[in-house]
Amino acid sequence: MEWTSLNDLRESYLKFFESKGHLLHKSYSLVPENDKTLLLIVAGMAPLKKYFTGELTPPRRRMTTCQKCIRTNDIENVGYTARHGTFFEMLGNFSFGDYFKEEALPWAWEYLTEVLKIPEEKLWPSVYEKDDEAYSIWKDKIGVREDHIVRLGKEDNFWELGAGACGPCSEIYFDRGEKYGCGKPTCKPGCDCDRYMEIWNNVFSQFESDGEGHYTELKSKNIDTGMGLERLACVMQGVDNMFEVDTIQNILKAISDRAKVKYKDNPKSDVSLRIIADHSRASAFLIGDGVMPSNEGRGYVLRRLLRRACRHGRLLGIEGAFLGDIIEVVAHENLTAYPELTEKLDYIKKIAVMEEERFDATVESGMNVLDQLTAEAKKNGKDKTRN
Ligand code: GLY
Repeated sequence: MEWTSLNDLRESYLKFFESKGHLLHKSYSLVPENDKTLLLIVAGMAPLKKYFTGELTPPRRRMTTCQKCIRTNDIENVGYTARHGTFFEMLGNFSFGDYFKEEALPWAWEYLTEVLKIPEEKLWPSVYEKDDEAYSIWKDKIGVREDHIVRLGKEDNFWELGAGACGPCSEIYFDRGEKYGCGKPTCKPGCDCDRYMEIWNNVFSQFESDGEGHYTELKSKNIDTGMGLERLACVMQGVDNMFEVDTIQNILKAISDRAKVKYKDNPKSDVSLRIIADHSRASAFLIGDGVMPSNEGRGYVLRRLLRRACRHGRLLGIEGAFLGDIIEVVAHENLTAYPELTEKLDYIKKIAVMEEERFDATVESGMNVLDQLTAEAKKNGKDKTRN
């Protein structure tokens, strides 16, 4: 396996599935269309939900995308760990009543072992504990060693996203090596430690969930896969986490140059650098998709991201508006796949900088109030002493 850039990985995956008859569709907007169940797109299959349930007819029964996603449920952890982030891209190949597990699993294996040349012994498939069919595809059709296939329960190997298509899944884990492990003899995929990293989830979407625990069999059997691009890049670049992946590293470098601090010199400034890197990516894409900072819904998500980034800029000692310049680097790093970020750059920067200025003004007026209160408290304290 060879070091491969994030941008090249995206292209290679999409080309591979195009060569298998899939229609390549560019990423859908982060803002869900005609779907009130989601605030933002959180998975590659989310914009395609109605193709799975048969409510809409897809342009082709095989599609492939690299989808922009934002997950903010762990936002408080972003920066404090190197593992968390809000914005990521998800590679996916989808079958709407076309191929099923017999094709999906061998193709996933072919891509990883023949195109990317990841050594087979580094890969571990998991299957839903009752899915003998998937187990036998891995063992007999693909030829994976039996002691490298694990059966896991519903918690790990059943995928659903609120209401919509769902089903049992088969994941592929990458073994990062003993140094990441807990050392227990039982350590294998599914273990809580960091040794086995899930890289690809192949969902056999054959049920429709009403989001309240009721499942009905779908008319057709579908495939929905999801592989985090940044995670795959970590594997292919031999780095620990997404902040060390080439494109994100370049964004982080622009922030550290601006703040005149070095990444990995000080854990406290590292937190701020990671927060700004992640949040400026997410904000650039959200604004590009038409979201405006506001006090509710997705506008509030954006406001929070921008303001957290600003605050951490100030903590790093950066003076004046800086987010626009960082967003310019985000657009540059994404030029090949998302030229629209560069096309809309002036607009995106303007919205970000306006929010940054509003934030500064709020902080300043807050500081003035605080100064006033402190002065009054001092005065009252003195008065009291006098009395
Ligand atoms: N839809 C499959 C996944 O996101 O893991």
